Amino acid sequence: PKNVGILAIEIYFPPTCIQQETLEAHDGVSKGKYTIGLGQDCMAFCTEVEDVISMSLTAVSSLLEKYGIDAKQIGRLEVGSETVIDKSKSIKTFLMPIFEECGNTDIEGVDSTNACYGGTAALFNCVNWVESSSWDGRYGLVVCTDSAVYAEGPARPTGGAAAIAMLIGPDAPIAFESKLRGSHMSHAYDFYKPNLASEYPVVDGKLSQTCYLMALDSCYKSFCKKYEKLEGKQFSADDADYFVFHSPYNKLVQKSFARLVFSDYLRNASSVDEAAKEKLAPYSSLTDDESYSSRDLEKASQQVAKPLYDAKVQPATLVPKQVGNMYTASLYAAFVSLIHNKHSSLVGQRVVMFSYGSGLTATLFSFKIREGQHPFSLSNIATVMNVGGKLKSRHEFPPEKFVETMKVMERRYGGKDFVTTKDCSLLSPGTYYLTEVDSKYRRFYTRK
Ligand code: ACO
Repeated sequence: PKNVGILAIEIYFPPTCIQQETLEAHDGVSKGKYTIGLGQDCMAFCTEVEDVISMSLTAVSSLLEKYGIDAKQIGRLEVGSETVIDKSKSIKTFLMPIFEECGNTDIEGVDSTNACYGGTAALFNCVNWVESSSWDGRYGLVVCTDSAVYAEGPARPTGGAAAIAMLIGPDAPIAFESKLRGSHMSHAYDFYKPNLASEYPVVDGKLSQTCYLMALDSCYKSFCKKYEKLEGKQFSADDADYFVFHSPYNKLVQKSFARLVFSDYLRNASSVDEAAKEKLAPYSSLTDDESYSSRDLEKASQQVAKPLYDAKVQPATLVPKQVGNMYTASLYAAFVSLIHNKHSSLVGQRVVMFSYGSGLTATLFSFKIREGQHPFSLSNIATVMNVGGKLKSRHEFPPEKFVETMKVMERRYGGKDFVTTKDCSLLSPGTYYLTEVDSKYRRFYTRK
C-alpha cells in the first residue's frame, strides 16, 4: 500500500466551556495572565453526563456515519488516552458495541498510554499495521480521547477536553512521510498521575516546560539528520509549510517554534537571514542548559520567529486556544485547525507535527498533503468537522458553576452506584452521554 495516512477525521468537544477572561477574574490573578500570558481564550470541560468514553463513542459513530463507512470495514481500532477509567478494561472495548451491532468483532488493537503521547502511539500502530504484511485490506481507526482537569491552582486554566477519531488507510490525502521521524524518550517526573484515586496529575509546571523544549530540540536534531541523509541537503523551517505542535497552552507553542528557529540559526541554516543572525548572535555560545533559562534568548528568538510563526504555525492554533489542552487529542486538534483554516490550499504541502507526552516520550514527524478522492478530500473533511459551527454553538458557564462541576467530578471519579441527572439539554443530537454507574462499577451510556 502507498501513501498510507489519514483518510478522514472527526472531532468532538463538549459544548460546555468557560472563558479564560472570566476565570482570571474569578481566580484573582492579574488580568491577562491566562489570555495573554498562557495565550488561551476558552476552555471546554465535561459535565457529569460526559467522559472520555462518551466523547469517543460520539466521535467514532459520527465519523462512520458522516463519511459513509460501514463498521464492517474497520480491521483495527486503537485508542490513545491518559484518562484512566479502568485499570484493566480498555476504552477500546467500550467502543465495540458500535461494531458488534453489525457483526464485526474481528478488530485488533487496544489502548496506548503515556500522557499526551498515547494518540501518536496509537496512530503509528495503525499506520504500521496498514504498511505491514498482517494488513487485511480494511481500515484502521484511531481515537484520541481525554479530559484534562487540574486541581485548583496555576495549572487549572490549562485543562480542556475532546475526542478525535481518524480513519487510516492507503492513498490518503494526509500521507505519512514515514522515513521522516525523530523521537526522544527519557525518564522524567514532570507530569504524572501516581495517585490512582484522583483524576488530577502531579505536575511540576516549570520542569514540564523545559522537558517539552528539550525533547523538541532533540527530536528536531534527529529529524533533520534523517532528512539530510535522505535528501542530501540541510533541513530548515523553510522546508515545511506548516508546523503543528502539541498545545498545552498557546504560549508554549510560540516558544517552541522560536526554539526551532534558534536551532536553525545554530546549525547555520540558509533560511536564517542576516538581521536574524545579528539578533541571535549574543546567544550562540550559551550551553543548552543556559539556553532553556535565558529570558533574553526567549524574547529575541520569539521576535525573530514572529513572521514565520504567523505564516506557518498560527493557522494551526484555533481549536487548542478555544478548547484548551486535550492531552492526546491536542496535537490532532491543532492539525484539525489547520484543515479548517487552509483546506483549499494544502495540496502538495508538508506539515511537520510535534507530539509530546510527559514522563517523557516525544516524536517529530511529517505529513505530505495530497489530493483526496471524495469523501476523503480535505474540503469534505473540513465540512464534516464543522469546527466553526461547533465552536459557535457552545454554552459558557460562569466560574461558580464550573468550579461546582469540577467538585462533582472529583467526587464521582472512581465511584459506583450512582445515576447522573441524564440532562442532555446542552448536547447536540447524536451525542452519547453517561446515565449510570451501577453497584458493580458498570457504566451505561445512551445516545441523544
Ligand atoms: N499579562 C500578561 N502575561 C502575564 C500576566 C499578565 N497579567 N501574568 C503573567 N503573565 C505571563 C508570565 O510572564 C508567563 O509568561 P512567560 O512564560 O512568557 O514568562 C505566563 O504568563 C505564565 O505565567 P507563570 O507565572 O509562568 O504561570 P504559572 O507558573 O502560574 O503557571 C504553568 C503556568 C506552569 C504552565 C501552569 O499552568 C501549569 O503547570 N500547567 C500544566 C503543565 C503543562 O501544561 N505543561 C506543558 C507541557 S506538559 C503537558 O502537556 C501537560
